[in-house]
Amino acid sequence: MSQQKTILSGIQPTGKLHFGRYFGAVENWKRLQEEYDCLYMVVNYHAMTMPFTAKKLAENSWELVFNLLACGIKPENIFIQSLVPEHTELGWILGCFTSYGQLSRMTQFKDKSSRNDEMGDQGFISSGLLTYPSLQAADILIYKATLVPVGKDQEQHLELTRNIAQRFNNFAGKEYFELPESLYTKVPKVMSTADPMRKMSASLGDKHNIDVFADEKVIRKQIRSAVTDTGEQVAGVMSPGVTNLFKLLEASGRQEAYTSLLQDYEQGSLRYSDLKEEVATGLVDISTGIRERLAELKSDRKAVKNQIKASSFEIRKRAQETIKEVKDLCGLVNVRF
Ligand code: TRP
Repeated sequence: MSQQKTILSGIQPTGKLHFGRYFGAVENWKRLQEEYDCLYMVVNYHAMTMPFTAKKLAENSWELVFNLLACGIKPENIFIQSLVPEHTELGWILGCFTSYGQLSRMTQFKDKSSRNDEMGDQGFISSGLLTYPSLQAADILIYKATLVPVGKDQEQHLELTRNIAQRFNNFAGKEYFELPESLYTKVPKVMSTADPMRKMSASLGDKHNIDVFADEKVIRKQIRSAVTDTGEQVAGVMSPGVTNLFKLLEASGRQEAYTSLLQDYEQGSLRYSDLKEEVATGLVDISTGIRERLAELKSDRKAVKNQIKASSFEIRKRAQETIKEVKDLCGLVNVRF
């Protein structure tokens, strides 16, 4: 019997949805839905590992759900982590199969714990930040997902997930968990238009990212002020700023404009203002479609929320199956229905 592979990925309910995140992750997720059994989760438990407030966490979680739906992620594929509390239960169990030394050496832990220090929370570093990767392993393994579409920054987490699964399998004396692999689809790495040497990111500040939901005027203005040449270019090498604009043009699906402007560039006749105009139009077109869908979804918030609660409930049944088996394998006294 050929079974469809299960894909799982998670996204933090922090920051806004900018074009870097859209082209780099969400658009790819949308495409994968055509081919695989896909589960996409808003990881609100993980968001508690950095300073947070209850109000913001709730608002951001729903905001992200609405945004994902507007971008074309199917409602039956979306769920909220806290609506499947089995994740934390498996997270605890897998924590007992995770090496403390390995956790403390994770680059994300080292980065974020020093950032937490800077954020002035009196140097408070929660143990949740340390055990974050065991919960992420649980997110993946609880659905026996085999493919995890993530960026290169998550490589270490996936490696650790495989270690944990292996250790559990050794303990159980059978190949209970399949070892998941990261799925690196070729996605464009979009750079900041204000500083094309750095990745587009919300944490760098407003001018370093372009909000998918921004007004047409704002998008056009941001693209118009994009850095192109800095005067330090090597002859014959396309500057990072111009490269990034071409990448955005291609990502936005304007293949014809892309080809013809690239020809202009090669002939030395490209006007940056023309390139920027085309890029802006490409982004505005995408943004307009998404905003229209978002407005529609927001006209009946309650219905959308109920739909996501229902999909989370369905997905939870799959998680409960695994938890039941894992508890049996561990000798944990189990509830039987
Ligand atoms: N750590 C991931 C990130 O910061 C988010 C995440 C949590 C995740 N659980 C996951 C990603 C499971 C993939 C699979 O981007």
